[in-house]
Amino acid sequence: MRPAVYITRKLPDSILQHLSGHVHIKMWDKENEPVPQEILQEEIREADGLLCLLTDQVDEKLLSGAPHLKIAANMAVGYNNIDVAAAAKRRIIVTNAPGVLTETTADLTFALLMAAAQRLVESSDFLRAGNWSAWTPMELTGQDIYGATLGIIGMGRIGQALARRAKGFNMRIVYHNRSRKPEVEKELGLDFYTDLYDMLPVCDYVCILVPYTSELHHFIGEKEMNAMKQTAVLINTARGGLVDEEALFTALSTGKLFAAGLDVFEKEPVNPDSPLLSLSNLVTLPHIGSASRATRLKMAKLAADNIIAVLSGKPPLTPV
Ligand code: DGY
Repeated sequence: MRPAVYITRKLPDSILQHLSGHVHIKMWDKENEPVPQEILQEEIREADGLLCLLTDQVDEKLLSGAPHLKIAANMAVGYNNIDVAAAAKRRIIVTNAPGVLTETTADLTFALLMAAAQRLVESSDFLRAGNWSAWTPMELTGQDIYGATLGIIGMGRIGQALARRAKGFNMRIVYHNRSRKPEVEKELGLDFYTDLYDMLPVCDYVCILVPYTSELHHFIGEKEMNAMKQTAVLINTARGGLVDEEALFTALSTGKLFAAGLDVFEKEPVNPDSPLLSLSNLVTLPHIGSASRATRLKMAKLAADNIIAVLSGKPPLTPV
């Protein structure tokens, strides 16, 4: 009998065909709605493999009801939705999807930086609302990007891809990371800051690109925002929990920060009544950092290939 794999969201046919050549699949057949936890808990009882998304809570309770499970393959590079220790205790392999989304996410991060700096969304709304009366010297003026200083927190794959884009804009690039990366520094001409509080005041832009863990909850809060320039722009395309949203609201609404761009929120989907959404100097996106068609297909294929490998007795391609 073929191993049984549960897929927590409707995936494109090409991926399903690829998987079903190797395993028996069952799937939550909705595209825009996560599988309810109680259904997942039921379905996982018979599953040998799980293909899950960042919207699924793969926790101790779920895994304790999964006696046959050998692999949980996350269709994301981040895996803070999975209790990796609980999985390891049960010898369940956890995989993620690194590499395939690096360039797309760096593109989106830079796009968000540009949109926030140059007030693109606000300006478009202004025009559509019929407020454009004449070319005006200082109306809707933003911040320059060319030649400005970009601070990157987290110099992993996406941080490096972002730095490459910033070089094309002649930016000075500084970074803060757990450990120094001398070769990357040399290749990309970066300046390293051991102390985040030394780096923040020199940055015109701060992009946070670290994986979320509970220790990094609200890594950028009031103290960090106060250390930044009043003209600075903060961008988060990693995980919502890294930035204290209340502190961000205060900083943006009192002019302590010029603007921000968020692709991720502490609670997703963000409540449409959230005070954050009333701010014209905040550009908001619905977690679309990796959302090019080609990249999403690559992420799904990598998750599928991890499952196929493990369930046929081979090592996973991208274990966490
Ligand atoms: C990830 O992969 O972790 C992103 O947040 C979604 O692509």
